[in-house]
Parts: sequence; C-alpha cells; structure tokens
Amino acid sequence: RPGTRSSRLAAAPPPSVRVRAPGKVNLSLRVGPLDDDGYHPLVSVFQAVALFEEVTATQVVAGAGISLTVDGPQADAVPRDRTNLAWKAAELLAMHTGVDPDVALHVRKGVPVAGGMAGGSADAAAALVACDALWETGVPRTELVELAAALGSDVPFCLLGHTAVGTGRGQLLTPAMTRGEFHWVFAASHTGLSTPQVFAAFDELTRGGAAAVGVEDDTALMQALRAGDPTALGAALHNDLQDAALSLRPELARTLEIAREAHALGAIVSGSGPTVAALARSRQHALAIAATWTAEGAADSVWTTTAPAHGARVVA
Ligand code: C5P
Repeated sequence: RPGTRSSRLAAAPPPSVRVRAPGKVNLSLRVGPLDDDGYHPLVSVFQAVALFEEVTATQVVAGAGISLTVDGPQADAVPRDRTNLAWKAAELLAMHTGVDPDVALHVRKGVPVAGGMAGGSADAAAALVACDALWETGVPRTELVELAAALGSDVPFCLLGHTAVGTGRGQLLTPAMTRGEFHWVFAASHTGLSTPQVFAAFDELTRGGAAAVGVEDDTALMQALRAGDPTALGAALHNDLQDAALSLRPELARTLEIAREAHALGAIVSGSGPTVAALARSRQHALAIAATWTAEGAADSVWTTTAPAHGARVVA
C-alpha cells in the first residue's frame, strides 16, 4: 500500500555513527622545564580506562553547519559551542578533507569533566572517527593522529587507547605491553582544575628548573605492566604534577591518605587533577575504597572501573 510505504520513508532516521573513546589515567607523568613554545616536554605512561565518552554524529541537510548537544552526569559543565573540542574536531576534519562541515553532534559524558582524565580529549577523538565515518572521508589513521595532536596533547592517546608511552607534549605514542586487567577507583570533584594553571603552579614550585625527563625512569613501571603485577604497578605510580595540583587543591592530600588507609596499592592525582586515582587489588577492593571515599565525603563522585580499555571505535 503506497500510503504505508511513504510514511515509512518519512520516518527513516538520518544516517548516524556512534563512537566510543576512553578516558585515561597517567600511570606515570614526568614533566621537564617549560619550552619556548609554551609547552613542557614530558614522558608519560598513559592507560585508557573503561569510562567512555560517546559521540554520535548524525547527518543534517547541506548548509546546516555543526550543532552540538551534551548529556550525562556533569553535562551542565560542558560548553555546547565551537569551543567544545568535539566541535573543533569536526571543523578541523572538514577543513582537512574539503567537505562541508555539516553534522549534528551528540556527546554523552562518561568521564569526569575537567578532571585530568582526558574526557574532552576523548570527545575530540570520538568526533574525528565519527565524522570521518559519516562523511566517508576515509582519512588514513596516521593523518587522523596528526589532526588529533593539533586538537590537544591527549587526543592521540584517546584514539589509540590501551597503554602507551607518550613523549613530546605527550602526543608521540609507543604502545606498551601489558598483561591482565587492573582495577581502578577515581575520586572526582565537580570543580575542575585548569591544566595550564596546574602547569604554571609546577613552574612556580620548580622555579623553572625542572630536571630533564627520560623514558628510562619508568623501567620498574613497564616491568610491572608486562608482568601484570598490580602491587608492583601501585608502587611505581608517579606524577610530577601532583604537588602542583595539591598546591591549588590542598584537600586532595586527605583523599590520597584515605585511599592509602584503605590499602590501595597506589594512589596519585590523575594527570593535572583534581581527580584522585587509586589502584585496587580486585573489583571488591575497588568497591571498598570507593565506599570509604564516599563515607568520608572525600569526593563529589566516585567511579570504579577497569583498564586497559580500547581506543576510539565505532559501536553498533
Ligand atoms: O595540548 P593541550 O591543549 O591539551 O594543553 C593545554 C595546556 O596545557 C597548554 O596550553 C599548556 O599550557 C599546558 N601543557 C603543557 N605541556 C604539555 C601539555 C600541555 O604545558 N606537554
């Protein structure tokens, strides 16, 4: 019956692509002195965690431009305009490939916002992959990584996922071998910390005289990863930005202490903070640490998860 057929056609949803990209924790973050380009050379071991940002790119009529909606627990704290990294990613990919930047983006937040866990970077990575698939631009992986690096230092890692050593600004990545699954607990704050401010505090604390950094400093950590030994990994966790984050947010010292009292294998500030990461022996232990943080009122929200997790990929 023609009537039924046309109403079905009218109801067909426009094509869309959904992509998931992970947040991260820095197992090690070693920061050198500020360079002339305004960045710090660093060596970092990144691990992707199974807390995902999800970006859906939906086709819109030609000339409609880019639009953006956001949902999730802390969606209100996220900009919905062209300052959003997902928006910038779509714009950059369109410019790079010569297609018109027409897409409706929807971001579902699954990583603490402004927490030092690369939630915004994961949005950018997911948006790149989603728009590349929607627009059928077929950008080679190596070029996608370059676009990612232009969007932010952590974006390439969110594309890659798993565990990797980052050098340069953190964007030059070498995958690291790991065994097994690690259990993490995160204490997040609803008031984020600005990454440039934390780096500035680092410059002040080190009076611009930070020592040069090298990958050889993480030998014990890399061995713990290869062995799948969470106890050794916990002992090797390291973050040069931790004191800087603590200087801006002194109460994080108590959050770290509580994790240690709850026998976390290791506890550090994640990246530039203010999220605190604790490594647990097992899922049960992770839940116990989470319960302790909650009972002590040490965090605005507490998240348990596993790692490593995959990089940005299309989901059905
Ligand atoms: O690369 P991204 O835009 O994420 O960096 C945000 C800010 O963090 C930079 O503008 C810079 O102030 C600081 N940063 C740094 N050294 C790095 C990475 C970031 O100083 N390696």
